[in-house]
Amino acid sequence: MYTTLREVLEEAGQLHMAIGAFNAHNLEMVPAIIRAASNQKTPVIVQTSEGTATYVGMRTLVAVVTSLAEEYGVDAVLHLDHAKGWDTIRMAVDAGYSSVMYDGSALPFKENILGTKRVVEYAHAAGASVEAELGTVGGTEDGVVVHPDQVCLTDPGDAVEFIEKTGIDALAVAIGTSHGQYKSKTRIDFGVLESIYGAVSKPLVIHGGTGVSDEDIHKVIDRGIRKFNVGTELLVRWNTTSRRLYSSNKENMSNRSNVMPVLDAITQIVEHKISLFKNV
Ligand code: 13P
Repeated sequence: MYTTLREVLEEAGQLHMAIGAFNAHNLEMVPAIIRAASNQKTPVIVQTSEGTATYVGMRTLVAVVTSLAEEYGVDAVLHLDHAKGWDTIRMAVDAGYSSVMYDGSALPFKENILGTKRVVEYAHAAGASVEAELGTVGGTEDGVVVHPDQVCLTDPGDAVEFIEKTGIDALAVAIGTSHGQYKSKTRIDFGVLESIYGAVSKPLVIHGGTGVSDEDIHKVIDRGIRKFNVGTELLVRWNTTSRRLYSSNKENMSNRSNVMPVLDAITQIVEHKISLFKNV
């Protein structure tokens, strides 16, 4: 069933697990992700950056995720990842996205609260959920670079006030992970995460999931992470597998010969991640 972030994360809280949120970088990746969730018998969050949403088309994404959720009998959420602009968020909600992330993390605290509140009012009126971010996650995503000296971990006291004043459904926390594929990205501050988990009652979200070790995955889920984002790992697998296939297959072969094995590889990664997220 096509469903909301709030519903799947509530269930995750009860089961003490995380739901995988996988960035689909194009339309082809969507069935590969939903197929993996069906094999693992868990809900799934398909998320798109603003760039992917524009490239594919929001209504097309809503139609495809809705239809595949029915076909595979999977609880699936379509979530807009890291949206900074009001117009994009409004368009996504109007198109039928069941969840949006408003990213006002680079703004001063009060402005972040005001922007997030506006998004919550609009999205909730349409039945969609809202994730917002406090603190800054480092790394590169969709061409946007956050340098290490701009990284600022989430303050637990601010998290309490932010949730109270905005009414969000999930809070993305900055705890030391980075977007992209970095060797240095696994320095997670479990103490900060523990303090936030102890202070708030909303589900917590981890960004920059690529490169987090299996052991750390279990540790963050144990400390309240209920939505686990993975993007770069899928992109890297898509690119490396395609490069190999396109360079070795004949030019007049069906394009499917180059794409289907890539999708199988994506499904495998997603299945493996989901198995880690639920096995705690
Ligand atoms: P990675 O690209 O590091 O997996 O992070 C994905 C993410 O957090 C999307 O918001």
